[in-house]
Amino acid sequence: MISEPLIENDNLDIPFHLAIIMDGNGRWAKSKGYPRVAGHRKGAEAARLAVENSIKYGVRYLTLYSFSSENWRRPVDEVNDIMGLLREYLLNQMNELHSSGVRLRVIGERDNLASDINLLIEEGEMSTKSNTTLELVIALSYGSRSEIVNATKRILNNVDLGVVKPREINEILFESYLDTAGIPNPDLLIRTSGEKRLSNFLLWQLAYTELVFLDVLWPDFGEPDFIKALFEFTQRERRFGSINSNKIDKN
Ligand code: FPP
Repeated sequence: MISEPLIENDNLDIPFHLAIIMDGNGRWAKSKGYPRVAGHRKGAEAARLAVENSIKYGVRYLTLYSFSSENWRRPVDEVNDIMGLLREYLLNQMNELHSSGVRLRVIGERDNLASDINLLIEEGEMSTKSNTTLELVIALSYGSRSEIVNATKRILNNVDLGVVKPREINEILFESYLDTAGIPNPDLLIRTSGEKRLSNFLLWQLAYTELVFLDVLWPDFGEPDFIKALFEFTQRERRFGSINSNKIDKN
């Protein structure tokens, strides 16, 4: 059951696509004297709440940076802990996600994931493919530079095969070879924990995205922080390089 919004949606511009870099699990755990895994566990709960809040406020696409290509370099125990939480999430949350009308999609290098996790992802994507309330995009073993390199290789392969002509290569064609093909670019990116970096996340897709950096550590990210980010987004003027604002006069 999703509770009533804390404030009226009429006062907010709602991003069609919200992307989040969920940062600060380790620092949250350290500040409380807990092991890092406790931060990730609370972080997984905060991710569940972010899905609920996205539905509640009418966000249509939510992309969560859950595990980067670089995260494989962490100690093996921590990698196993995070993978265990993802496995748990896919096992325990899919029914609820499905009944809330959520469609699951996973981007990133699946070859690096355990086969049972890949199976859960395939089942989740298949069983939710007709849902339209919210598209939940989980970035797993994801790195933007390698996504771009892989897209380029696939285009070149199709040029070799004669399926694509070099003069047909443009931004629209290129986007259709990215992992995010068919997903609109994010309108708003939130990064928690006070860090102000993109960390190899959606580098192509974030070209015109509004960036909001919050000091809150990800495990503490709840509805008040969600609203705070939407307020900041509401105050921004998005001009996409032009001189006209996208703001609609609400009065
Ligand atoms: C960043 O905090 C977080 C991660 C690298 C992992 C994110 C994983 C989860 C939130 C759990 C699973 C997610 C889902 C969708 C179920 P950090 O460890 O880099 O924190 P630090 O910078 O404070 O050390």
